[in-house]
Amino acid sequence: MRATIPSSSRGGVFTSLEQMIGNTPCVKLHRFATDHAANVFLKLEHFNPGGSVKDRTALGMIRRAEEEGALGPGMRLVESSSGNTAIGLAMLGAERGYSVCAICDRHLPAAKKARLFAFGADILFLPQTPAGIDTVQLRIAVATWLADAVPNSISLGQYSNSANPQIHYETTGPEIWEAFDGQIDVLVAAVGTCGTISGVGRFLKERKPSVQAVGVEPEGSIIFGGENRPYVIQGGGLSFIPSILDRSVVDRGLKVADAESVAAVHGLARAEGLLVGGTGGLVVEALARLAPEFGPGRNLIGIIPDAGERYLDTLYDEQWLNHHHFRERLPPRGSVDGELAEGATAIGCSLNHIPDDPGPSIAELCQRVGASPSVVANLAENRL
Ligand SMILES: Cc1ncc(COP(=O)(O)O)c(C=O)c1O
Repeated sequence: MRATIPSSSRGGVFTSLEQMIGNTPCVKLHRFATDHAANVFLKLEHFNPGGSVKDRTALGMIRRAEEEGALGPGMRLVESSSGNTAIGLAMLGAERGYSVCAICDRHLPAAKKARLFAFGADILFLPQTPAGIDTVQLRIAVATWLADAVPNSISLGQYSNSANPQIHYETTGPEIWEAFDGQIDVLVAAVGTCGTISGVGRFLKERKPSVQAVGVEPEGSIIFGGENRPYVIQGGGLSFIPSILDRSVVDRGLKVADAESVAAVHGLARAEGLLVGGTGGLVVEALARLAPEFGPGRNLIGIIPDAGERYLDTLYDEQWLNHHHFRERLPPRGSVDGELAEGATAIGCSLNHIPDDPGPSIAELCQRVGASPSVVANLAENRL
């Protein structure tokens, strides 16, 4: 296995965004899910320029449409998305001269919304729907209608567009194969459109049929069967089976409950210093289940679709965690060291929360901590 990122991939000079898509790094886990078990690696797709695995899908679909003459300068891309695909399209669209309208429900996290607006995209929001209800089929219907109704528009349709799995067959699969010199035993991918698992699974199994390809969906999603129920993990799972799913390359479908995914996300952050999104949590929980089964010497590779920064107002937000009753299963926030809290209180500062009162004056704090005269003078210059 190659220990470093190929020199041609990151840190080079590039002349277009598309050259920066792919060649994402893999990191070995040292503490989480590793006791007496297989080697567990995560392929971190948030290293893509738009911040998710969906940059690949966006590029694959745009290129195909351009080659077929269906997409040209000045056109508008209309796409149903839980955010990441639309961000990829909007990022590439900004560079290539396409405008983008993302069809989203109102549960779109703030970070995704901000990124879409920053790239100049429009967001068509559905009417209010309850949290956790899969709105994809409705969003696809709206996108199709809009692409018909608005001149010069096209919907690339990530759930049924074969360019989606194809780009994973051409890029993600070969990257994994080369990084591990073919020494891969298990692939784990979260499933949404199923582009990742279908494309990567096909590539790896063509080269090594014994590779086990495992798809993971939230409990409540029905891609691998089961009952259609609400779930709050965003980006993965569906209430229907997308036409691009290549079932012949998927050995197993696993289901992970919302609470298990949230716990995995927070466990990973604490144990490994990695901040991943909710579907990353599905993957990590699945890897934790599979690692003891496969045992020492085997290599399990999970694809992490995006980073936790995208979900600071949900997965990493105290209020949200409390609201969904996930908080009680997680380790306490911040330090449990009473002496640290006592120290903070002694100088009039607060630990891990911002109180309503403003606290002591800055001059008072300087005095309490014995700040040097130059620090005091500097603050006084700024009228503090
Ligand atoms: C955050 C996130 N995770 C996982 C997936 C699933 O990947 P795929 O659509 O390739 O199955 C998606 C996309 O739908 C996503 O946005």
